[in-house]
Amino acid sequence: MITPSQTSSKVRLMFDSINDICHQVVDFLKAESIETNPKAYEVGDLFARSLIDILGACVFGIKVDSFKESNNTYYKNAKEISCLASLGFNVRMIGGAICPKLMKFLGINLLNVDKVEFLKNLVLSNIKTRRSTKAKHSDFIQFLSDVHEKEGINQNLTSSEFSDDNIAYECIFLLLVGLEATTSVLNFLAYELAKNPLIQEKLFEEIQTFREELKEGKLSYEILLNMKYLDMVVSEGLRKWPSFAYHDRICTKDYTMEYETGKTYTFNKGDVIWIPFVDYHRNPKYFLHPENFDPERFSRKSSFN
Ligand code: HEM
Repeated sequence: MITPSQTSSKVRLMFDSINDICHQVVDFLKAESIETNPKAYEVGDLFARSLIDILGACVFGIKVDSFKESNNTYYKNAKEISCLASLGFNVRMIGGAICPKLMKFLGINLLNVDKVEFLKNLVLSNIKTRRSTKAKHSDFIQFLSDVHEKEGINQNLTSSEFSDDNIAYECIFLLLVGLEATTSVLNFLAYELAKNPLIQEKLFEEIQTFREELKEGKLSYEILLNMKYLDMVVSEGLRKWPSFAYHDRICTKDYTMEYETGKTYTFNKGDVIWIPFVDYHRNPKYFLHPENFDPERFSRKSSFN
């Protein structure tokens, strides 16, 4: 139902909400630095809180400030459910893949049921309020409700297949796939910028050149798209530190691949193939000195583009 291309086109519509949360974070940090002496922050927590608030506004249709109210219930549930790197989650995921029947028999679920229920009820109550007030919003609940309504009618599907519960589960899915992927790349970017002050300086200078174009101090989607060096820095961050280690795809027809050594291997229709990103991204055959953090690889002049 949702593809990455659809999500990127929706970002434009949700840009103001994202911008508002970023201002909320900056205002909080400024106020804190005035009230107290300069303080050290754990960047992982800073990004996670900001993104959970952004997903709250763009996906769950709620306005939260997880900096001012650091222990709000939405933040706690969203944070705990989306901790995909935890040992417990990975053990449950492997268990579910190897012996799904045993996991079911033991009543072990991949995700914490109470947290799923909390987030589901959040979406359901939002949908209910919107229906009664007929209010329209620029967020995923609206987008998914519109798609469900249209597809449900067009394809004459039963209500259970296009139910409100389904919208809620899709919102939870967005939280799971979006949060970890985004915080991961932001954390690594912060690390690389700290290690490479010249790159940080150049990026800062580029951002400064757009200052005058800001309307009432607010960034617009169009200005963001014009920040070419920022784009190069993010691309290099995703190259060196991809959020996902591999892609998996199902082979749609038999295909024989020939290696440089002359050996061949035949993939059969239906085979599941794992494509290891990291191996390509860190391979000197494709990226010279792959261990270096070098955004210039992604400049228009570069041979990589
Ligand atoms: C820097 C951050 C992100 C990166 C690097 C990233 C990367 C990716 C990649 C590589 C895929 C393709 C997976 C595959 O086809 O095997 C994907 C799919 C997807 N992403 Fe992201 N993503 C990011 C952020 C987000 C966010 C914030 C959202 C939503 C709020 C999101 C929603 C999705 C969805 C819905 C899919 C399709 C999943 C599916 O087809 O099963 N992503 N993402």
